[in-house]
Amino acid sequence: MFPKEVYINRRKELTNSVKNGLILFPGSTEVPYNYRANTYLFRQDSNFLYFFGVNNPGLFGVIDTDNGEDYLFGDDIDIDDIIWMGELPKMTYYGDKIGIKNTLPTFKLDEIIKKALSQGRKIHFTTPYRAETKIHLESLLGIAISDLDKNVSLDLIKAVVNLRSVKDKFEIEEIERTVDVAYKMHTTAMKMAMPGTVEREIAGTIEGIALSHGGPVSFQVILSMDGQTLHNLNHDKVLQTGRMMVTDAGAESPMRYCSDITRTVPVGGVFNKRQKDIYEIVLRANTECIKMIKPGIFYKEVHLHAAKVIAQGLKDVGIMKGDVDAAVAAGAHALFYPHGLGHMMGLDVHDMEGLGENFVGYNETVQRSEQFGLAFLRLARKLKPGFVLTVEPGIYFIPALIDIWKKENKCTDFINFDIAETYKDFGGIRIEDNVLVTETGYRVLGKPIPKTVVEIEEIMKQGV
Ligand code: GLY
Repeated sequence: MFPKEVYINRRKELTNSVKNGLILFPGSTEVPYNYRANTYLFRQDSNFLYFFGVNNPGLFGVIDTDNGEDYLFGDDIDIDDIIWMGELPKMTYYGDKIGIKNTLPTFKLDEIIKKALSQGRKIHFTTPYRAETKIHLESLLGIAISDLDKNVSLDLIKAVVNLRSVKDKFEIEEIERTVDVAYKMHTTAMKMAMPGTVEREIAGTIEGIALSHGGPVSFQVILSMDGQTLHNLNHDKVLQTGRMMVTDAGAESPMRYCSDITRTVPVGGVFNKRQKDIYEIVLRANTECIKMIKPGIFYKEVHLHAAKVIAQGLKDVGIMKGDVDAAVAAGAHALFYPHGLGHMMGLDVHDMEGLGENFVGYNETVQRSEQFGLAFLRLARKLKPGFVLTVEPGIYFIPALIDIWKKENKCTDFINFDIAETYKDFGGIRIEDNVLVTETGYRVLGKPIPKTVVEIEEIMKQGV
């Protein structure tokens, strides 16, 4: 846990911003996997972690903005828990760690909420995303599950997004440590990417690296020769020479901060000409976009730069044609780059997405586009010092999408479909780094992970 002052200050800042009523933060509960006693790996709610820091199931946090008191609700473990799970500190210990003197048993929460409701006080809560939490909120607040989303507090959501968007030095250190774990995961994957290896052997090994550092992984490992499928979770193919392997994977720190890195390598360790040509385009988009990062720039502008680099590069190899600016304005590049340049990162790998993507990545000055490709951009607004984000351009040849666009004669002024067709067996390439916005520009977090053609070929030569 961070020093208690960190949690005290965060709650104070939230109180100052929300101003009235009770703020309710439900922690996560344990969730059964295939029967009650066999649970999924416990993951605490990130807002709860941010303001209350305790990584145990079944807790609630309350901030009373009117009297300035904070409360931590939860029960001390009993002898049955001790027999099966071991000793845990008492709730007062956790309260002390986060600067809360009001640690109360769970049943007291009901009393406090009922009293507040009877007094007509506002109860602020954010959008619940787990069934268990929804059921609990329904009974606590008397709001039907189907109506919970309509009753969330926009003031609270906006205040939480404001605070969590800007990472302090403790958080940056945590994130950077997980990027260093990702270094080990990715360099191991590169060395293992040899013909005849089954993808799952590599996926399992790198997941183990995350776990061995206090992980787990920050999202299910994406690792595939079929990198044209953006989030490919199938790991059952045998690697073949002539294909490329996309690995998109990161770790969570013991305090649940995340990394999210992607690298793409040629199976066997040597790029052929076609692979190198496409790889260099994605690499250029990645490095040029990183260099653009600074306070005040709209991330949408950086995304559109990536789109232009990709369109220009694909034009140079004959896949696209025509005026690059016009092609990007028409969204033609999205046939090959159908996603956004990146997203915020922190306690969630898509940071704060549970609060609503538009609150995190957009605001009054920049609205989400409806154009295919651009519509998937998660972060478009102006960057500020302390933001941590991903930069992850890619080029993909998705046979089904090429077929549809060709059939519909979409963007024929900008796409040479006959040439695009010849890339249907190519797969995809994505290159992703985790970047901090500093006062004057940017800093790529963590130990540099091989990224250029030379660096990748060099490390793959080393083998495991
Ligand atoms: N890297 C996985 C994701 O951004 O969803």
